Amino acid sequence: MQFETWTQPLAELPVDCVAVAVHDDGELSAEAKTLDLRCREKLSRLVKRGDFTAKPGETWLVTDLEGVRAERVLLVGLGARNAGGKEDLSRKAWRRAVGAAVSAATRTRIASLALALPRPGLKALSDERFGRAVAEVAGNTLYRVNDLKSAKKPRAHALARVVVPATAKSAPSIKKGFGQGAALAGGAALMRNLANLPGNVCTPTYLGRTAQDLAKTHKSLKVKVLGPNEIKREKMGCFLAVTQGSDEPPRFIVIEHRHPKAKNAPVALVGKGITFDTGGISLKDPPLMDEMKFDMSGAACVMGTMNTIAELNLPLNVVGIIAACENMPSGRAIKPGDIVTSAAGLTVEILNTDAEGRLILCDALHYARRFKPSVVVDMATLTGAIVVALGVHHTGVFSNDDALAREIVDCGLVTDDRAWHMPVGDEYGDQLKSNFADMANVAGRDGGSCTAAAFLAKFTKDLTWAHLDIAGTAYQGGAAKGSTGRPSAMLLEFLLRRAAAR
Ligand code: BES
Ligand code: MN
Ligand code: ZN
Repeated sequence: MQFETWTQPLAELPVDCVAVAVHDDGELSAEAKTLDLRCREKLSRLVKRGDFTAKPGETWLVTDLEGVRAERVLLVGLGARNAGGKEDLSRKAWRRAVGAAVSAATRTRIASLALALPRPGLKALSDERFGRAVAEVAGNTLYRVNDLKSAKKPRAHALARVVVPATAKSAPSIKKGFGQGAALAGGAALMRNLANLPGNVCTPTYLGRTAQDLAKTHKSLKVKVLGPNEIKREKMGCFLAVTQGSDEPPRFIVIEHRHPKAKNAPVALVGKGITFDTGGISLKDPPLMDEMKFDMSGAACVMGTMNTIAELNLPLNVVGIIAACENMPSGRAIKPGDIVTSAAGLTVEILNTDAEGRLILCDALHYARRFKPSVVVDMATLTGAIVVALGVHHTGVFSNDDALAREIVDCGLVTDDRAWHMPVGDEYGDQLKSNFADMANVAGRDGGSCTAAAFLAKFTKDLTWAHLDIAGTAYQGGAAKGSTGRPSAMLLEFLLRRAAAR
């Protein structure tokens, strides 16, 4: 897919299709009005007749409009005006319209599509972020799940070129954004592909091989994959405890992106890579257990993001760290009450084997120390409790540095990949008291996502650290079951800012 900008009049654009927007009160957008004047108001008559009601995401294809060079004009519904509050057009409605236009085009023979849609929320959506969002939404719309269905795949679409309006001044920034958005969509697709794969295909070994493939494609990446013996040598007792009940060997994956011009102490991204979470001896209930194949979404996001920054050759040093294993019940599995020693030397009483994410993460976070990172961000589908607290709309952000948490929340705001600041503190940490070890791996039911974060905080005391609980946001259940690619967009914004400030 190619992205371009244009500056000539809309009616003269040499493309297969021009997409223009209509509000559901029947009013044409400014761009649609320009075309309408050329064709003796055929578009307004069409809308007045009521066939096209301009609901959000609705589209209507008109062909051979007099006075318009493009053979097709696609009307795209924006829904109610002001639905987004202060802005005339919410970014949510705009994203929906871009997605609908691209999706409609893929169902035709349209090869080049001009998006002549109004631009929303100009303040937060700089030219660069506008270009990024166009390429991101287009890329995410074109994403097709790598399903394992035996039927032949449907015919490929013709859409190869998407163009948006620009001025001489805005064009360079928009184009820069295109590059970022395309790389972002590529990384998010990698994340989604990995997360959507079933546990019997996407094993820890598979994740390790995928990482090694990344290093083959990108010169800036160096990859190291540790197996069981090397993990033992690192004394990762908590990680080893989780994997011991499984027949699949664990993998500890380190992906380094180095840029010759970057002088920063690396940003460390740590991902939870449980390729299937049965709960272990504290076995989960059968309903929805299949969704626990998504329990490696954090790891998948690290992998996708490393791909994105390598693609962009971001002038920033970044290290991705992934602990990957299964959580299974077996005769060799850990039992409630077992006490193990983490790589950091702290002992943990495992009261619930289903609280395994924090066990693999505490050893991965400890490993991150050796890179003397400027900041550590871990991503994990860590708790069901975060879904109770925030639903599926916000990622939970926990940090031992309020400024860092605020930075991450802001990155989520401007990329429509939102996050919410959650508390960590000694009160929560104290709930993890154990009679027999330095700490227990679970507290009571109350504040479950906060006590999970507080567990991790015990291992990150002298690091600048943030934890993203993505259990509610990384994948969807129900009819649209599948990985969402979140929080790739928010994370890229975070890294772009770090690269700019370096
Ligand atoms: N992977 C789960 C968290 C999860 C739950 C993610 C639902 C997505 C949807 C995690 O390993 C887990 O099982 N957490 C337990 C913790 C509890 C035992 C303290 C949970 O949330 O129930
Ligand atoms: Mn679990
Ligand atoms: Zn889990």
